Amino acid sequence: MPQTQNAFGRLAAGAALGLVAGLALPQARKAVVQAPSLAAGDWVDALTAEHRMVQKHFETLLETRHDETARREILMAKIASSLTRHAVEEENVIYPALAEGGRADQARHLAEDHGQMKTYLYDLRRLSPRDMEWIGRARQLWTSLEKHMLEEETTIFPAFRDALSAEENVKLTKMMHWEGFKVA
Ligand SMILES: [Fe+2]
Ligand SMILES: [Fe+2]
Repeated sequence: MPQTQNAFGRLAAGAALGLVAGLALPQARKAVVQAPSLAAGDWVDALTAEHRMVQKHFETLLETRHDETARREILMAKIASSLTRHAVEEENVIYPALAEGGRADQARHLAEDHGQMKTYLYDLRRLSPRDMEWIGRARQLWTSLEKHMLEEETTIFPAFRDALSAEENVKLTKMMHWEGFKVA
């Protein structure tokens, strides 16, 4: 665990000094551009900011017309990309922390939700946005996702944050950003 945090710290310091130029700059830039969460406060604030970004894309997507195929494809690609990074942050760091913190049932329940949403995404990928079923399935995905996100950000995550020390929350926040950076 300390190794990961140190790696994140070195990267942040390197980025500040411009030392990553020519080495990992494309990735660093991508992470900064794609991660509103990096500017947010702790891990709960960061994950909540990512939820809002996905919500914004879904609201736009669900208002698209049937013939706006390219727009639907682009918005769904943005949503899938954001959700992939978000799932890695939660599944690699937050859910294991929840489980080790005596909340294994919650961790399992949230991971099962992710599994269901990956199936919805897979089903959508197999359809064309021109397909009459497509928007209904997209709405079904958003309905499940919204319920899951609200449960995380209003109940499970704040309760867990409150149960941790300030130092533990700082460590968790750093680890979560580092996992997200790796797949940005
Ligand atoms: Fe989640
Ligand atoms: Fe989440």
